[in-house]
Amino acid sequence: MSLYQQAYRASLADPEQFWDQQVSLIDWVERPHSVLDQTAKPLARWFPDGRLNTCFNALDRHVAQGRGSQAAIHYDSPVTGTRRTLTYGQLLDDVSAFAGGLASLGVDTGDRVLIYMPMLPHTAVAMLACARLGAVHCVVFGGFAAAELRSRIEDFRPKVVITASCGIEPKRIVEYKPIVDEALAAAGHRVQRCIVLQRPQAEALMVPGRDIDWEDVHDTGRAAPTGCRTVASDDPLYVLHTSGTTGKPKGIVRDNGRHAVAMAWSMKNIYGIGPGDVWWAASDLGWVVGHSYIVYAPLIAGATTVLYEGKPVGTPDAGAFWRVIQDYQVSGLLTAPTSLRAIRREDPQAAEADRYDLSGLRNLFLAGERLDPETYAWACEVLGIPVTDHWWQTETGWPIAANPRGLESLPVKPGSSTVPVPGYDVRILDAAGREAPANTEGAVCLKLPLPPGTLAGIWGDPRRLERSYLSTFPGYYLTGDGGYIDEDGYVHILGRSDDIINVAGHRLSTGAMEAVLAQHPMVAECAVVGIDDALKGQLPLGLVVLKTGAAIDSGTLQAELVRQVRATIGAVAAFRKVLVVPSLPKTRSGKILRKTLREIIAGQDTGVPPTIENPEVLQLLRPLLAASS
Ligand code: COA
Ligand code: AMP
Repeated sequence: MSLYQQAYRASLADPEQFWDQQVSLIDWVERPHSVLDQTAKPLARWFPDGRLNTCFNALDRHVAQGRGSQAAIHYDSPVTGTRRTLTYGQLLDDVSAFAGGLASLGVDTGDRVLIYMPMLPHTAVAMLACARLGAVHCVVFGGFAAAELRSRIEDFRPKVVITASCGIEPKRIVEYKPIVDEALAAAGHRVQRCIVLQRPQAEALMVPGRDIDWEDVHDTGRAAPTGCRTVASDDPLYVLHTSGTTGKPKGIVRDNGRHAVAMAWSMKNIYGIGPGDVWWAASDLGWVVGHSYIVYAPLIAGATTVLYEGKPVGTPDAGAFWRVIQDYQVSGLLTAPTSLRAIRREDPQAAEADRYDLSGLRNLFLAGERLDPETYAWACEVLGIPVTDHWWQTETGWPIAANPRGLESLPVKPGSSTVPVPGYDVRILDAAGREAPANTEGAVCLKLPLPPGTLAGIWGDPRRLERSYLSTFPGYYLTGDGGYIDEDGYVHILGRSDDIINVAGHRLSTGAMEAVLAQHPMVAECAVVGIDDALKGQLPLGLVVLKTGAAIDSGTLQAELVRQVRATIGAVAAFRKVLVVPSLPKTRSGKILRKTLREIIAGQDTGVPPTIENPEVLQLLRPLLAASS
């Protein structure tokens, strides 16, 4: 039996024993006596009586082991022309000081801190400082507009907000502080303090009495740095909101103990990264990839993590990724396929790659969206190293299906994210909840219990956890993806079966965009669906039915709706296209048949659905949708 098979079978046959053997990957203040509490509802609890501190595992223990002078973070920012390396010792000093500063503002164990910041080491420092204090952080991606930030503030109800004066996009400076001020003014929740990092590219106006400069907080803390506060394994480390099928994002809760074990296990066994290796997850700290694989996992593993404030192209050219790999001798890279598509579009022959020494790169990992065969083939040819498609989601926090390179490299099947990762019992279910035979498409589900590191709950809404994930097929977690498992046990993910779309590796709710379109005075009803895009994978398309008598030309309407989505959700939605249609397909109870729209657009038209009230509309829509996709 292969190493992978041994580990996989052991993890399912006796999960308790399997994870008990991984407990010592991290340092505990009180090692758990009990590994799994299956009686806990609705989700099992791992390591329930363990006590630890996540920041200690990410920093202190490495310094204590004599690796204080090893690089912890290489910050590389082509948009500002800055490069800086922080050793483990320096990062520990910074984090202890900032945690001390937060404590001086009254932030205590269990308090909540919201972080709305760009790709800076300071963002990682803020996250780790919260972990040090046992405070819960919630990072909001900088590409979200004020209304999205406001909804997260109202859901999370932070004591303190931490922000920067601006983020830097290749063509513009994005001033963060006015967005924070607007969100805070609109939110029905008052924060006590707002900490602001002033960047030289834009100066933030401070609100007297509430706002305080990052440097002042840091200086106060330097005089009284803080040690690690011990928390229970179950205590929340962070909340990260992700798109659900409604407009209201879900706050995924991650706890300390099971998360730390899963981070340590996956870094070693999936990504093959250990102490001293240089690792780069080219994503953003506002996404789950940033939480798991820019900050926590590489630092818990004692590796060096690259924090890149730039894009794959345009900062300054399509050689940017190759330059970073060379300059820091990166041995493992994780990014989204869209980044490679962007590079390939500008440099199809990969001439830029020849200018750099990429010999240190051992593995390329791709996730966040479907890996199309052309991009896979191109990456293999350009890099000549193993290219690994792997599948996971914000809720799980770490890969569900992958080629576990650190454990054993398995044969690759392009189009498949390889095999279920140890700990995940992946099953394909049909509509009636029966297991589908090999090669038959169905709902991709995970048989309970979920392994450590996966979601511990939904912030402030336990019933939503059951409703969204656990009630469709009792005993299983519903991933929301459709797919199949082939005769060799390889997992093939075919895409979301709900109203979530994936734009440039960013997960977005079409429901949230529909809510914005519906507010336009001329719009009677609307639907937003994803259409294929050669660069971003998918782009949103707004289908709009006008109110009777509405007089507006389609160009003006499109411009107004695009502006409104940008202002409400953010530029990251990449909402640019609107189609005025005479009507939308609906059921007798008035529900829009979005699945039918998706099928028509994907060219998988399955005829007339039995539940449709107005079948005649399909004849009108087919040519319109075909022309726009
Ligand atoms: N703060 C503010 N605005 C942001 C932002 C941030 N952190 N991130 C993106 N935006 C804005 C962009 O400036 C852009 O605005 P524009 O419409 O005014 O040009 C918009 O949001 C869309 O951004 P993006 O999706 O990055 O598209 P792009 O056309 O600028 O770049 C790619 C295309 C492919 C280069 C880019 O999408 C990319 O690097 N993708 C990788 C995605 C990734 O890492 N995903 C994480 C999952 S692993
Ligand atoms: P997020 O929660 O933002 O990480 O998005 C998770 C969703 O992205 C998944 O449910 C999938 O729909 C999609 N996804 C992530 N990785 C892959 C992959 N390797 N192949 C296909 N889809 C993926």
